[in-house]
Amino acid sequence: MSNTRVPLKARQVSFAWDKTPLHWLPDDPFSTHTINVLHLLLPAGERWFVHVYKQVLPYITDERLREDVIGFIGQEAMHSQAHDEVLPHLREQGLDPTPYTAQLDWFFEKLLGDRTLPPGKARQWWLMERVALIAAIEHYTAFLGNWVLNAEELDRRGADPMMLDLLRWHGAEEVEHRAVAFELFEHLDGSYRRRVRTWATAFTALVFLWQRGARFFMENDPTLVDGKASWKDFYRSGKRGVLPTPGAMARSIPRYLSRSYHPDQEGDTEQAVAYLASSPAAVAAEARTGADR
Ligand SMILES: [Fe+2]
Ligand SMILES: [Fe+2]
Repeated sequence: MSNTRVPLKARQVSFAWDKTPLHWLPDDPFSTHTINVLHLLLPAGERWFVHVYKQVLPYITDERLREDVIGFIGQEAMHSQAHDEVLPHLREQGLDPTPYTAQLDWFFEKLLGDRTLPPGKARQWWLMERVALIAAIEHYTAFLGNWVLNAEELDRRGADPMMLDLLRWHGAEEVEHRAVAFELFEHLDGSYRRRVRTWATAFTALVFLWQRGARFFMENDPTLVDGKASWKDFYRSGKRGVLPTPGAMARSIPRYLSRSYHPDQEGDTEQAVAYLASSPAAVAAEARTGADR
């Protein structure tokens, strides 16, 4: 396992979705749609990360961490945009996600947004609470990034190469920047009680939103009659290797709650960097940036 730090840069990727089938994992609508929930959660969620971190920048006194946070902001903004661009393609295929994304926009912008708090302690408390929530969520984005980089079963089962590249480009950048959110939280606050409390909130919200999103997709998929999402399907897909297993997810919990936790203990930077060096989207982005220089 390797955790050499790399300077973070946003790769200006673009994807063409016209050849990607609705069930991009052949004959497996449930796993396809469970992963598709990322396209619902991430545009609003990662825009929210960027919004919070821009407010936090003036409080960072460590120059290297500041650079990392700026690189993180650039990467997350690009992730949010790339997943957002999948949504018109789903709409064209008869699966309009607007009812669900409208709820998510409310969740991130209103519930987790800037409340009308007076300047001072209350406002500072709410900002730190959100910084800690992001650190907890980033534990899971790194977990998923590491999973998708190693999920060879998706290749074996003929997953659409464009979708796989989106997921792995994103996953690799999540592994690349996995330490930033936690180090920022430690730098600004680091309270263990806050870490535990915000982990519980983030985990509950993720499970709730994810299962709702998978249900929404299954119930509204125009090609399915009486489409449903169940925990049983989730276990089955995990067993087949096309989704993370509940066991791996459960084991990730005590790791985050351990007092000696550091994200460097998770994932493999070398593997992430190697993927980014061969990712069709990242390579094309690099060539375009080179040509613009
Ligand atoms: Fe991301
Ligand atoms: Fe991230």
